[in-house]
Amino acid sequence: MNIAVLGAQWGDEGKGKIVDLLTPHVSIVARYQGGHNAGHTVYVKGQKFVLHLIPAGILHPGVTCVIGNGVVIDPHALFAELDELGRHGVEAGDRLLISDKAHLILPYHRELDLLAEARRGERKIGTTSRGIGPAYEDKIARRGIRVGDLVDRAALAEEVRENVEARNHLIGGSALDWRAVLDDLLTLGERMRPWVGDVSLFLAQAIREGRPVMFEGAQGTLLDIDHGTYPYVTSSNASIGGVCTGLGVGPRAIGGVLGVAKAYLTRVGEGPLPTELTGAMGDRLRDTGQEYGASTGRPRRCGWYDAVAVRYAVRINGIDALALTKLDVLDGLDAIQICTAYRLHGRLITEWPSDTALLAACEPVYETLPGWEAPTKGVRRFDELPAAARQYIARLEEVSGVPAAIVSTGSDRDETIVRDDSVVGGWLTARPRR
Ligand code: GDP
Ligand code: IMO
Ligand code: MG
Repeated sequence: MNIAVLGAQWGDEGKGKIVDLLTPHVSIVARYQGGHNAGHTVYVKGQKFVLHLIPAGILHPGVTCVIGNGVVIDPHALFAELDELGRHGVEAGDRLLISDKAHLILPYHRELDLLAEARRGERKIGTTSRGIGPAYEDKIARRGIRVGDLVDRAALAEEVRENVEARNHLIGGSALDWRAVLDDLLTLGERMRPWVGDVSLFLAQAIREGRPVMFEGAQGTLLDIDHGTYPYVTSSNASIGGVCTGLGVGPRAIGGVLGVAKAYLTRVGEGPLPTELTGAMGDRLRDTGQEYGASTGRPRRCGWYDAVAVRYAVRINGIDALALTKLDVLDGLDAIQICTAYRLHGRLITEWPSDTALLAACEPVYETLPGWEAPTKGVRRFDELPAAARQYIARLEEVSGVPAAIVSTGSDRDETIVRDDSVVGGWLTARPRR
């Protein structure tokens, strides 16, 4: 069985931890969108790894990691990540496959990202400044440079010259030398070459042979270019459709969809966040949850669990079950709130408003549940959780519309409660395949 693991909120839900937890049961982990704007944290025996472009499965020997055509790749970031992994004894070797159709992030994309943000002024998106949006813009405008283009010097030279000259015009200041960009690209292309191939074909063969695949999402549903809080979104389809377009697999290849959601929520960057807590409670969640960006170090905005948002993510992605993370961060609170509906211009609404401006006008309607005194940190069995924590989870499931099949009580692999692993094909109660 192949499953998709994706974010059901605004990113940073703990996808890295969940992907790592499930990886022993698959042969392949495949990233389908985004770029090094992502930061997926995994703890292995107390050692912290933050993956940006390379699927979190790389930490498990014998697992093949795939970077799909839907991903945008900054080759410098890719090699920095591979080098960093190498320093920790993790070698990609022949376990990495990069789509020849993936688009590249070039130096001017970063400049254009900064420039676009500066131009928007007060209305800035709060991007990660990694050049993600401009690289996807070039892809859609059909002028992008792809991994597979790095083999033909003559054809590439013309493309690079045209692109760089057009961008120098826009960027102003210190102009980029297109020949230097070209030489750099060719060197990087040479290093990348052993890993480049036909991802769709590789996955089709693997699936035919019954080798299970996990599709790893970056960002989250509410940052999706189509279904998120536009324009305060990223530039790719973080939601389920991205699996098919970003890897070249059919929808029936996806056997289950696991949505990852925090037991509260966070967002980095601008845009509406109805349950945002700006006072002492927000600071409390940020401090306890260590809510600082894994890629940029920016403080994350924190808020209560928004069931309207998660129900929407369930609908958009066809989520079968949730992996509910960071329950332990709520330990010690007297009372916890869950947003179950919004009040909009005096009316009660229970469905996510399609229009971002309307969402920004929504007031959360809360239900208050009692907190718990005994810590949940590190608890591994559901029945060992304090009664109030069990009650909180039960209510989250009711208002979200799907079961919380996995509950995470700490950043470590072992700090996890597995309640029902049928959504992942019974993997967690069975012995690992490898
Ligand atoms: P991702 O982008 O979805 O992979 O999430 P990030 O890695 O950006 O952020 C999640 C953070 O929460 C990481 O630092 C994780 O180590 C940490 N984390 C994940 N699950 C838990 C949990 O259950 N409890 C606590 N306290 N931390 C967690
Ligand atoms: P992971 O995979 C949280 C946010 C940025 C900004 C918006 C657009 O770790 O969950 P971009 O640079 O993509 O153009 O920025 O999207 N953003 C993320 N927020 N987690 C992420 O990734 C994010 N990747 C981008 O903060 O608001
Ligand atoms: Mg992250």
